[in-house]
Amino acid sequence: MKSQPRSSPPSVKRPGRSVSIVGTGSYLPERVLTNEDLSALVDTTDEWITTRTGIKTRRIAAKDEHTSDMAARAALAAMEQANVTAEEIDLILLATASPDMVFPATACFVQTKIGAKNAACLDVSAACAGFLFAVEIAQQFITSHTYNTVMVIGAEKLSSITNWTDRNTCVLFGDGAGVAILQHRSTATHGVISTHIGSNGDYNDILWMPGGGCRTPITAENAHQHLQTIHMSGKDVYKQAVTSMLDASKKALDKAGLTIEDIACVIPHQANVRIIEAIADRLKIPLDRFFINVDRYGNTSAAAVAIALDEANRSGRLKQGDFILMVVFGGGLTWASTVIEW
Ligand code: ACO
Repeated sequence: MKSQPRSSPPSVKRPGRSVSIVGTGSYLPERVLTNEDLSALVDTTDEWITTRTGIKTRRIAAKDEHTSDMAARAALAAMEQANVTAEEIDLILLATASPDMVFPATACFVQTKIGAKNAACLDVSAACAGFLFAVEIAQQFITSHTYNTVMVIGAEKLSSITNWTDRNTCVLFGDGAGVAILQHRSTATHGVISTHIGSNGDYNDILWMPGGGCRTPITAENAHQHLQTIHMSGKDVYKQAVTSMLDASKKALDKAGLTIEDIACVIPHQANVRIIEAIADRLKIPLDRFFINVDRYGNTSAAAVAIALDEANRSGRLKQGDFILMVVFGGGLTWASTVIEW
């Protein structure tokens, strides 16, 4: 039986043209890497990883399974749920920090794999915050009447840019992909209510991959220095993650004319359970209002919130009429938040 939509708070400010999430999908590679497996690779323990991060397992893509392959699998699942054909898709936005290659855009590979021949395609680079940056771009294209149907993808093969000899980082990350299809449907009342995106380049060196670009191309001489892998100053990232996600949450809520009490489910960036607990504590809402799957998948960067959205959707956690807050944080620094009416 379809649940009745809840009555909206009178203050809610909806954008002019409705933008609905009409389908979601996700894909996780088969191979499971446990904390015990990692303790055979580096000097770590299940106890250390669990207490500091809440992560128990993560998925690792096969050698010949690329970011675009995972993205295409998730895309097909979302299209089926949305009842949207490949030809209907006007734009594919793919957020990633681990593209198949520098160019062409990984979104172009996905286009071919799903047969979306009418779509324009581009990648969005905003690290872990990329999926919600892409949602904001999609919303702008739809509310401006430029496009009707935009596929937003977060997909990562972080295992390919992880230094598997560095215990500070290799225990944190995983692979996977998540997709949301955003569309204007004249009959729909639910959808994206507000978004907020922000950046601070002053902190560009606390979470970055210094090698592989034009500044430090990987050469035979420097290949052994792991420059083409994720570098992170954990404590600095932790502090910035908490403050910027709190601030971003408040901005999207204010823009929507809502308060945190109106939110039925918070879907945060899945980096670390301690970060999520700190945010719940400061927002003064119980932890069970948050959707959490970082224990199973680790941090999948731009894919994390997209995978969580799909799991929350398919598990029935999101009810018609619910207000959902998604909030993310990533290298750049970048942060973003979105309020959705489900
Ligand atoms: N196993 C065992 N010991 C470890 C490990 C490990 N995997 N990693 C680090 N340690 C050791 C360190 O070497 C250090 O030892 P020392 O005291 O002898 O020098 C000790 O543990 C403490 O290290 P800290 O870095 O101080 O540990 P901290 O409590 O800060 O936890 C963590 C590290 C989990 C990374 C934390 O800083 C954190 O959560 N940061 C947020 C960053 C994050 O989540 N990043 C994900 C990417 S960011 C994003 O997605 C946006």
